Amino acid sequence: MKQTDFLVIGSGIAGLSYALKVAQHYPDKRVLVITKTRIDETNTKYAQGGIAGVTDFEHDSYDKHIQDTLIAGDGLCNPHTVEIVVTEGPERIKEIIEWGTRFDKDAEGDFKLGKEGGHSEFRILHHKDVTGKEIERALLDTVGKQKNIEINKHWFVLDLITQHHLGYLVTKSTPDIECYGVYALDQHTNKIVKILSKITLLATGGNGQAYRTTTNPTIATGDGVAMVYRAKGRIENMEFIQFHPTALYEPGVSPSFLITEAVRGDGGILRNNKGEAFMEKYDERKDLAPRDIVARAIDSEMKRAGTEHVWLDCRHMDKTKFVEHFPNIYEKCRSIGIDISTQFIPVAPAAHYSCGGIKVDEWGHTSITHLYACGECSSTGLHGANRLASNSLLEALVFSHRCYLDSVQKVDRIVFQQDIPDWNAEGTTEPDEMILITQSLKELQLLMSDYVGIVRTHTRLQRASKRLDLLHEEIESLYETTAVSPQLCEVRNLITVGYLIVKEAQFRKESRGLHYNTDYPQKSIILQNIVL
Ligand code: FAD
Ligand code: SIN
Repeated sequence: MKQTDFLVIGSGIAGLSYALKVAQHYPDKRVLVITKTRIDETNTKYAQGGIAGVTDFEHDSYDKHIQDTLIAGDGLCNPHTVEIVVTEGPERIKEIIEWGTRFDKDAEGDFKLGKEGGHSEFRILHHKDVTGKEIERALLDTVGKQKNIEINKHWFVLDLITQHHLGYLVTKSTPDIECYGVYALDQHTNKIVKILSKITLLATGGNGQAYRTTTNPTIATGDGVAMVYRAKGRIENMEFIQFHPTALYEPGVSPSFLITEAVRGDGGILRNNKGEAFMEKYDERKDLAPRDIVARAIDSEMKRAGTEHVWLDCRHMDKTKFVEHFPNIYEKCRSIGIDISTQFIPVAPAAHYSCGGIKVDEWGHTSITHLYACGECSSTGLHGANRLASNSLLEALVFSHRCYLDSVQKVDRIVFQQDIPDWNAEGTTEPDEMILITQSLKELQLLMSDYVGIVRTHTRLQRASKRLDLLHEEIESLYETTAVSPQLCEVRNLITVGYLIVKEAQFRKESRGLHYNTDYPQKSIILQNIVL
């Protein structure tokens, strides 16, 4: 058993920035960070384009950033959350700069600001095209110096501990569900450890692995969302899965390599199989329309021509500038034989970001007491029906700060719950057929991509729902009889995530933002967040 004042699950931007703040605030309290694989293997590390934030007040304003976010969110953003994130964001960006993050600057020492889809101004701070790697590096360097932070790598959190584990019946209508900590699998010893905590923060990231083609690394399996759902907490807006318009088309390679939207911000043009620039047919903002519009336009061009990708044309762009801003992309293209100054880049949409997730309020409280959530696993109301590019790193920083402010005031009033039983592994045996797990994952990814992708229909969702029921039944019976492993738990979590996406998509009888259903092509006049 372990005991800690603050338990942080996840070592991306959300988890590490929260851990640092609480540890600095209370140098005598213990902060335990758990991460399921290598410490830096996170969605954060792969962020390319950058972090949106108003820093150039001569051309930009909070008002413009707020408007851009609201327009992208297509009516479903919570305006109060948008205001919080946009106005508090610049202060949080200053902090990560103080912690050592280096954003690109020009000769005068001003930030070189990028532009992406849906932004009316240049406002994206970046470190070349590897912004996330730079942020993760700076955070890990600073965390490493903080003596009261312990990091457990290769530990897999299985479930939240609540009254359910004390023998009480807990349902969605139980008024005060409490979190006492988690059960986690220490992958070094293969033992399941009970970790008691006063405060628990979920910063478990996204769920792109529910789809066959995704920009997300293999850790993105929606574990936090699935755990909260099992613990009877509230989940919302899962139907809004953002597909990034331009992942590099490389059959057989997973995850997909991203070609940042900032390339289009600097002048890249999408072209169809005939070489025509097609975006003007779909939106007056052309290649820099919000992502839902561009991804749907690409999908439609691919379906019309029967192709598996479209092209991104960068031939007209200044090569020296391209290499300076996008060295990682330039190198990747070169490594597969594409010279961006003479050839097109093949690109196709890929599952990229989960706009919904664990429902939280403006201080990051989930519906479960002493349990906070921030970062991509949470649903704060910022993104509504479609996230504005580069707003997620910003949201993670603003909300990890708010979770910190709230939780440090509460921690001393919470006592450890001592009567928690150990994990019960009775009746389970070591898995002898990994194929059962790997095949379930493949089936899930296929059905989600084919039936619950960019364009949905009533019949496709119904089919997906039936197939998911079967997968659910099979994985639950495997789970009851087999010793737990990260692979088994991840597939089980992804099936839960798939179920939530499909259910919420079925409830939404309209097309809005990232949810496009040809049976309900119009927007409803009733604005609603769908909560399960
Ligand atoms: P992550 O960084 O994903 O961290 C999740 C952590 O949780 C990991 O440490 C993982 O090990 C841990 N974890 C999960 N489950 C468990 C478990 N069961 N047990 C233990 N540990 C667990 N956003 C922008 O704003 N700008 C960009 O330019 C941008 N570019 C992107 C490019 C790519 C290719 C991708 C994939 C995303 C991009 N995004 C971008 C989105 C952004 O990177 C993510 O939303 C953000 O980094 C998520 O941070 P996080 O801290 O919430 O989660
Ligand atoms: C990108 O660089 O295009 C990704 C930005 C984001 O997902 O916010």
